[in-house]
Amino acid sequence: LNNGLALTPPMGWLSWERYRCETDCKAFPDSCINENLYKAMADRMAADGYKEAGYEYVHVDDCWAAQQRDANGKLQADPQRFPSGMQALADYLHERGLKLGIYTDIGYATCEKLPGTEFFMQSDANTFAEWGVDLVKTDGCNAEPKEMDVSYPVFGFYLNKTGRPMVYCCSWAAAQVVHGIQPNYASVREHCNVWRNYDDVQDSWDSVTNILKFYGENKQNFANFSGPGGFSDPDQLLLGDYGLSIYQQKAQFGMWAMLASPLFMSVDLRTIDPKAKAILLNKNVIAINQDPLGAQGIMLYGLPESLSVWRKPLAVPGSYAIAFLNQDNQGRAMPFEIHLGDIGLTNANGYNVTDVFDNLPRGQFKPTSSLGVLIDPTCIVILKAVPL
Ligand code: DGJ
Repeated sequence: LNNGLALTPPMGWLSWERYRCETDCKAFPDSCINENLYKAMADRMAADGYKEAGYEYVHVDDCWAAQQRDANGKLQADPQRFPSGMQALADYLHERGLKLGIYTDIGYATCEKLPGTEFFMQSDANTFAEWGVDLVKTDGCNAEPKEMDVSYPVFGFYLNKTGRPMVYCCSWAAAQVVHGIQPNYASVREHCNVWRNYDDVQDSWDSVTNILKFYGENKQNFANFSGPGGFSDPDQLLLGDYGLSIYQQKAQFGMWAMLASPLFMSVDLRTIDPKAKAILLNKNVIAINQDPLGAQGIMLYGLPESLSVWRKPLAVPGSYAIAFLNQDNQGRAMPFEIHLGDIGLTNANGYNVTDVFDNLPRGQFKPTSSLGVLIDPTCIVILKAVPL
């Protein structure tokens, strides 16, 4: 969507994967969906280096809304869990240089059966603008997937009409893919800043590799549609949560950088493990993700259950990020040798090559000289190659 927003993939924190729909704040005061949770995360983002690294949206997902709209049909936050209201939360974030993301659904109800936007598009768009919302994630439950070709653009029209810049994130393509419909990606790209196109991420390596399989297959060549203003969204980051080893966390982060994916953490920033934090704050990997060309990396070849090679063009003409992902589950580090020429890097003068995660120079390589990497099990190596 060419509305001047999301020129690079949006970055932030989103509650869903880690905190889901826990509404019992008596039993779970530190992990229920309430205003304190989002304020606590905002405090950590502002104080612990995340904001400086580029993470800026604090995203309130499903289960923030009251069961009923008010007497005028206006959406309202749950009064027990958000006693200060959404506008106050937006102010709290803006005072700290952060932005507010909010969640709704294109259907009559959200996935968790709270009020949806279907019959209230103009009014909800106005409400979000009035509250000072900066990003609207619009889910795809309780709606007819075929009708989304119309409903998502209409809601986008009303968001735009408010005059407030709000990043528009759609689940349009994802809902259609799940129902066996081929999304019209050109239209999705024209109307949305960010689009989910596959299943929800869960806190496991299986889930990450399933998503990567979908992105590797790249059906209908959806990678082509990513670029400044519009990005495919393989869903949230699992770093610091329960299900991935530190190697797998590195692999997810590296691959999400290669895919020009939105980078939304979903983790308790109050207690996060320092190793996970260090990966999330890795400047060089973030720079690959935020590269201004905005290209989504594609898989050049992949051997099932083992090695795949991915390539992402970067803004400096002729330069690329190249990822080697080792999906071998037997605990084997994998040595691999390539010639840059074999993966389309044919500049006769050669390339300056650096290891991205460690920011270490690897030296200069001609298209025909051989370059070796050793990839830890269920982990990744990313190289950057800049033409000489
Ligand atoms: C489905 C979405 O894909 C998730 O990211 C999350 O927003 C849930 N719905 C909330 O109900």
